[in-house]
Amino acid sequence: MFKTILQFTLIFLIVSIVVAFNSSDNHVSKYTQSTPNAMPKTVSEALVQIGAEKPNHYIEKMDADSARMGEEIVKFGNLLDESNKRISKYFVCTDCHNLQLESANPADESPEAVLAYGMKNDVPYLPASTFYGMYNKEHWYNDDYLKKYGDLVLPTRDTLYNAIQLCATQCSQGRAMEHWEVRAVLHYYKSIELKISDLKFDGTELMKFSKLLSKDKKAALKLLKEKYTQVNHAHFGNSDIPVIEGYEPNADNGEYIFNKGCLHCHDKEAGITNFAMSNDKLTLGFLYRKKDKYNNLAIPHITRYGTYAFSGRKQYMPKYSFEKMSKKQMLDLLYYIKVGSGN
Ligand code: HEC
Ligand code: HEC
Repeated sequence: MFKTILQFTLIFLIVSIVVAFNSSDNHVSKYTQSTPNAMPKTVSEALVQIGAEKPNHYIEKMDADSARMGEEIVKFGNLLDESNKRISKYFVCTDCHNLQLESANPADESPEAVLAYGMKNDVPYLPASTFYGMYNKEHWYNDDYLKKYGDLVLPTRDTLYNAIQLCATQCSQGRAMEHWEVRAVLHYYKSIELKISDLKFDGTELMKFSKLLSKDKKAALKLLKEKYTQVNHAHFGNSDIPVIEGYEPNADNGEYIFNKGCLHCHDKEAGITNFAMSNDKLTLGFLYRKKDKYNNLAIPHITRYGTYAFSGRKQYMPKYSFEKMSKKQMLDLLYYIKVGSGN
């Protein structure tokens, strides 16, 4: 089966190369001839133009068929034609990771920016980082993940390939992925890498950037890197209810976090956990009464610590770092539970 897919991919590739050559012969535009340094479309193209060192997951040209396979693995756990086994019996990647931009400006992925964008665009509010732009990050499992998992994380720090593999086996409690499966996911990541048009350049900056690309590569690199974040930071909290003087919590924010965060997994329909919740008065009242406890039923506790997989029960809850839910947002969530339960 896989052989046939390969054969088809090959034929497809040859045909597309022929077509591409033919069409570029047909209309050689003045533009492409006179400006060899035309504006790159994606961040990685820009980095190549600048001459930056290529990351070890670098893919010269995205293969659409591989990307499609990667997308199916990410969304469904295996290929839709069922020619491979599911990565995990318990999870798919999208239980914890989004596939789209999470903030209006890729240079600002603060929880505040992510919340504002998420509320406006109805994006799930999840404990893990989005795959959109994952291709453009430079280190993985940063900060407290490094402290927490130690040796397990070391091979992932500068190798996206290994980060994917670690998450398949650890975060999603599944089997190790085969080489072609990881490659397919990398091609999919490449297809959703950051585009230059996603970055917030104003008109003059874009002109400046375009000039720098041919005149001053070091300055071009500096400007480019200011326009997106190169790592997803992660710092873990504890079960304390935050105290922020003068902060007035916002129930709308809290409602969004509950509905698009907690219920993303805890909704009955999601089928991820035994612990079904909904946004009715009963659930909210239950959570409100438990909020000060030092156990898994208390929101501040469960949100900051998560739970652990153990044999017999592999479904676990990933924790929200401060970067995925700020202290203020924790207060918003608690306030929503209070108001929503009529307290
Ligand atoms: C149960 C939740 C969960 C599932 C399922 C899951 N992940 Fe993750 N993943 C996490 C968490 C939590 C992190 C660490 C925090 C982060 O993403 O910034 C992480 C990190 C990663 C990272 C490194 C991100 C970074 O910037 O440090 C990659 C790459 C990744 N996961 C890929 C995958 C892939 C591919 C799948 C599906 C095969 C998957 N994950 C399934 C929770 C999950
Ligand atoms: C990525 C999926 C996911 C997200 C998001 C998530 N949870 Fe969980 N949660 C789980 C899983 C899995 C468990 C383990 C329960 C089980 O064994 O079924 C769990 C356990 C819990 C428990 C403890 C239940 C018990 O009996 O010990 C509570 C309470 C809880 N979650 C609340 C929340 C709240 C509040 C949020 C939002 C801030 C949230 N969860 C977000 C997946 C998730």
